Amino acid sequence: MNDVLICEVGPRDGLQNAKHLMPTDAKKRWITALAHAGLREIEVGSFVPPKLIPAMADTGEIVAHARSLPGVKVVALAPNLKGFERAVAAGAQKVTFPVSASRKHSESNVRMTPEQMVDEVRRCVERRGPGGPAIEGAIATAFGCTLQGLVPEDEVVRLAELLAEAGVDGIPLADTVGYANPAQVKRLFRKVRNAIGDKLDGAHFHNTRGLGLANALAAYEEGVRAFDSSMGGLGGCPFAPGASGNVITEDLVFMFESMGISTGIDLAKLFEARRLLENAIPEEPVYGHIHLAGLPKGFRAAA
Ligand code: COA
Ligand code: ZN
Repeated sequence: MNDVLICEVGPRDGLQNAKHLMPTDAKKRWITALAHAGLREIEVGSFVPPKLIPAMADTGEIVAHARSLPGVKVVALAPNLKGFERAVAAGAQKVTFPVSASRKHSESNVRMTPEQMVDEVRRCVERRGPGGPAIEGAIATAFGCTLQGLVPEDEVVRLAELLAEAGVDGIPLADTVGYANPAQVKRLFRKVRNAIGDKLDGAHFHNTRGLGLANALAAYEEGVRAFDSSMGGLGGCPFAPGASGNVITEDLVFMFESMGISTGIDLAKLFEARRLLENAIPEEPVYGHIHLAGLPKGFRAAA
């Protein structure tokens, strides 16, 4: 059992916002390499209209491939019931719904109000049969929004309560546009945990203003043990202006491992997976410190 769970969201959050399409076979090789590096949860794509995000058109095939990798929980994003049904048919083991706390982002992203989106998620929970996937309602723009500006913390708490009542299995908080700071992270995670307890189950940070790792550490200190991150810092929501990449998986793993907090992820193998990513979309800018600088002399991974 590792101390923290890192979910790699690069194949979804990363590639949905990349300028260059990654061919399906390259996606499969990359996801296989991520699994070999020890990633135990991978968000491999989204079931959205292919016309809207062409990079996600092959998600069904990608889910099927990822299901063949032992020990990996295969996660997919869905924006509505139709996406959920496609995810179930493909064999996704967890389906994440983006539920924006910002009204403006909600309209822009899913063309629904936050309340309509909660109703959509509830319908999916009700339709899920025995053996169906876990359902997660991720609160997007929880820390602020480039379209709306301030997102009241009470709105986030209220939305978390509505999602818990709708019967979702887990509710992570997402900083979709990279507005969060560590003090805010601690405050909001505490407020939401006070309202919904253990249904609060993860943190999704973007590194847009350079605070991704600081926010992840703040969340860790607040008791969060599940984190989304993206290899090479790819990522961003195409429907949130100014959104850029997620917290970088390689750097997040290095931070935790060097602190003695085990992730189950092998950094050398993670760098191999990164080579596959760079070769598959060579024109796409990728980021990261630990990969450039190398591991410190005498570095030891957490036991
Ligand atoms: N997968 C595939 N096709 C879908 C679909 C899905 N999940 N949901 C709707 N469609 C199809 C409909 O069947 C319809 O097709 P038609 O024109 O051939 O009849 C068309 O798309 C429009 O359907 P509608 O229900 O009116 O959707 P919309 O245009 O109001 O868009 C969403 C709503 C939710 C589908 C869209 O806003 C969306 O996918 N948002 C997610 C964006 C995203 O991925 N953001 C980044 C991740 S947070
Ligand atoms: Zn994101």
